[in-house]
Amino acid sequence: MALGKSVNVAVVGVTGAVGQEFLTVLAERNFPIKNLRVMASQRSAGKRITYCGKEYIVEDLANADPKGIDIALFSAGGSRSKEFAPKFASAGCIVVDNSSAFRMDPEVPLVVPEVNPSAIKIRPKGIIANPNCSTIIAVVPLWPLHKRAKVKRFIVSTYQAVSGAGAKAIYELENQTKEVLEGKKASPNIFPHPIAFNLFSHNSKIGDDGYNEEETKMRKETHKIFGDSTIRISATCARVPVFRSHAESINADFEMKISPEEAREILSKAPGVKVVDDREKNYFPMPLETSGQDLVFAGRFRRDSSSDNGLAFFISGDQLRKGAATNAVQIAELLLEE
Ligand SMILES: NC(=O)c1ccc[n+]([C@@H]2O[C@H](COP(=O)([O-])OP(=O)(O)OC[C@H]3O[C@@H](n4cnc5c(N)ncnc54)[C@H](OP(=O)(O)O)[C@@H]3O)[C@@H](O)[C@H]2O)c1
Repeated sequence: MALGKSVNVAVVGVTGAVGQEFLTVLAERNFPIKNLRVMASQRSAGKRITYCGKEYIVEDLANADPKGIDIALFSAGGSRSKEFAPKFASAGCIVVDNSSAFRMDPEVPLVVPEVNPSAIKIRPKGIIANPNCSTIIAVVPLWPLHKRAKVKRFIVSTYQAVSGAGAKAIYELENQTKEVLEGKKASPNIFPHPIAFNLFSHNSKIGDDGYNEEETKMRKETHKIFGDSTIRISATCARVPVFRSHAESINADFEMKISPEEAREILSKAPGVKVVDDREKNYFPMPLETSGQDLVFAGRFRRDSSSDNGLAFFISGDQLRKGAATNAVQIAELLLEE
C-alpha cells in the first residue's frame, strides 16, 4: 500500500501507558497526520483526549469502523490485537502492534528499525509487530556488536520498571510507597507481591523449562529479529520498584575477540545508542536518566572475566518510548518512506 505524505492514523489503547506515549511521540516527531482517531474500551468511550491542542473523542474499539485508516498503532493488549488487528488490516490499514499476539507469527515481521528495517516490506497480513520492550532495549546495542564480532551466546538479567505492566502499575508503586512510609502494609493488586521497597521475579507465567514468558520472549524474539536462531540466550527478568525505564546487565560471548574499548567505540557511533561510561565517576546508564529518552544508554564495558571472548556491559532504555511507542512510530515512519 502506498501511503501519501500525510496519513490517517488511529491510536488504539490511547488511554493506556503506551497509548499516551504514542501521542507524545507522534507530536514530538511531527508525524504527518491527516486525521487522527483515538480508541480504547467502552469504559473510556466519549472521553476527550487532547493532541496538539485539538480535542478528540475516544471511540469504543468494539464499534469503531476502521475504514479510511492508513496506519493503526495498537496497544490495547494481546486479546484485543488478536480480535481487531486482522479486522483493521482487512479494511486496508497497516497495523503496528505492540502486543505479543503476532510477534512469532512467521507471516508477521518483528521489527526494530535500527536492526532489521527491511523486514517491514513483507507483511502479508498487513500487520507488523513491535517486539517486547526488554528485547528491543537489548538488541539495539547488541546488533552493532553482533555485526562486528558475531554474538554466539549471551546472558541477560533485567531490572524492569513497573510501568511495563501498564498505567495502573504506576499507581500501585506510588500508593504502596505511601502505605509503607505511613507504617501500613503494602497492598498488592496488579502485581502478585509488594513492589514498594522490594523486587521480584517477573510477573509472567513460568513455563515447564522454568523460564517465565518475558525471558522466553527475549530469547525467541531476538532470534527472529537477528535472523539467527543459533545464538544461545538465557534471560532472568525481574521487576524492580522503578517507575519508568528498564535496565539490563548483559554478558555476551562473541565468535571474535572484541575489547571493551572497541565496543565503546562501535556503540558511540551506533544508531539509537548513547554511551554513558565514566569509570572514574562511577557513572553509568540509569533509569532516571533514560526516562523520556529514545536512546538506549550503554556503559560499564569490561571484559567478561569468565570467558575468553566475552564482554560485560550494562544498559538502560525507556520501555514506554523505545521499548514501545517510539519503536512503533519509527516503523510507521518507514512505511511513509516506502
Ligand atoms: N507498558 C509498557 O512498557 C509496554 C511496552 C511494550 C508493549 N506493551 C504492550 O502494550 C499494550 C498496552 O500496554 P499498556 O502498558 O499501555 O497497558 P495499559 O496502561 O493497561 O493500557 C491498556 C489500554 O488498552 C485499552 N483496553 C483495555 N481493554 C480494552 C478493550 N476491551 N477494548 C479496547 N481497549 C481496551 C485500555 O483502555 P481503557 O482505559 O478504556 O481500559 C487502555 O487504553 C500491551 O499489550 C502491552 O503488553 C506495553
